[in-house]
Amino acid sequence: MPTLFEPTTAGDLKLANRIVMAPLTRNRSPRAVPKPITATYYEQRATAGLLITEATAISHQGQGYADVPGLYSDEQLAGWKRVTDAVHKAGGKIVVQMWHVGRISHTTLQPNGGAPVAPSAIRANAKTYIINADGTGAMVDVSEPRALDIDELPGIVEDYRRAARAAIDAGFDGVELHSANGYLLDQFLRSGSNTRTDAYGGSIENRARLMVEVMDAITAEIGARRVGIRISPVTPANDASDDQPQPLFTYVVQKLAKYDLSYVHVIEGATGGPRNHQQGSAPFDYVALKTAYRAAGGKGAWMTNNGYDRELADQKVESGEADLVAFGRPFISNPDLVRRLKENAPWNEGDRSTYYGGGEHGYTDYPTLP
Ligand SMILES: Cc1cc2nc3c(=O)[nH]c(=O)nc-3n(C[C@H](O)[C@H](O)[C@H](O)COP(=O)(O)O)c2cc1C
Repeated sequence: MPTLFEPTTAGDLKLANRIVMAPLTRNRSPRAVPKPITATYYEQRATAGLLITEATAISHQGQGYADVPGLYSDEQLAGWKRVTDAVHKAGGKIVVQMWHVGRISHTTLQPNGGAPVAPSAIRANAKTYIINADGTGAMVDVSEPRALDIDELPGIVEDYRRAARAAIDAGFDGVELHSANGYLLDQFLRSGSNTRTDAYGGSIENRARLMVEVMDAITAEIGARRVGIRISPVTPANDASDDQPQPLFTYVVQKLAKYDLSYVHVIEGATGGPRNHQQGSAPFDYVALKTAYRAAGGKGAWMTNNGYDRELADQKVESGEADLVAFGRPFISNPDLVRRLKENAPWNEGDRSTYYGGGEHGYTDYPTLP
């Protein structure tokens, strides 16, 4: 019977255990450059089988929040090189989550103060975090987006390809394509945000087209066995919605099955909320989703996330429903989460007021077990 603590693989990645640190935005990268303290933060958590970085913008246009890192300038990449070196020195593995926010942005964060881009000009009922001219931070409504012209899509695919190459050059073990939580690729997939009438809207096949083109580009660039993807079939995060998530995401995983990916990462339910959150007429069937992926020849690891504790993680891994389990909030406040899981030790409580933004406090100063 598989257990959480045994070594395993995810495509080309050899992992010390099945415990993954989920991607966690921390807004501690002024000018989108990871600072030395970010290397300390990830290094402290390097006993996880795999670290997934906070979402990282592939381009300036892909930016949607103040002080989140990027993957598109030399300075940003040098900052990440410090992180990957520190994690590798500590014996860990790390992939970067590649992010384009689409409509979840604000004009003040966009090139030349322009409108954020989206599949369709539908403003999300969502907020983002900006820094005002006087240096104070504020949560504000996202801006009205403009619909992407079909001629602009190859440029976005190219931004993903370039970012994947840059990630490998910066020492990452691989990349995770962020196709979850109501950001650009999820906005294309889900009907509530995509009302296009061209080849990228309407049918499921059309709505999945951009994600498939991005996958084609990045797997050709760096090899599929170090590429993973994150999806969130029913989350309402960032105003994301679809009436028929089961057929949509069944199609998505069947398309993904042809690549020989490192892993598929599925958020079960509402991200950070109820695991049984429902969109559409029936509860989402995650076992059927995994079965569809394997039946279509899908390889690599199946990673699950959302609201896991030791008991649920054991159960999912032992039953084979999950090959890897990603923990988010528990890793913020427990750098030694792997040890705490192993020893069934209690977890430090996280301080939500320091999740986003700030310095060392609530970032690198959580205590480990003696
Ligand atoms: C502070 C914070 C930041 C997050 N940032 C990201 C992110 O950058 N990318 C992403 O895909 N999910 C992000 N999430 C969602 C988490 O990865 C995870 O899905 C969620 O916290 C549920 O897992 P958990 O119950 O183990 O915390 C974030 C969650 C929190 C609490």
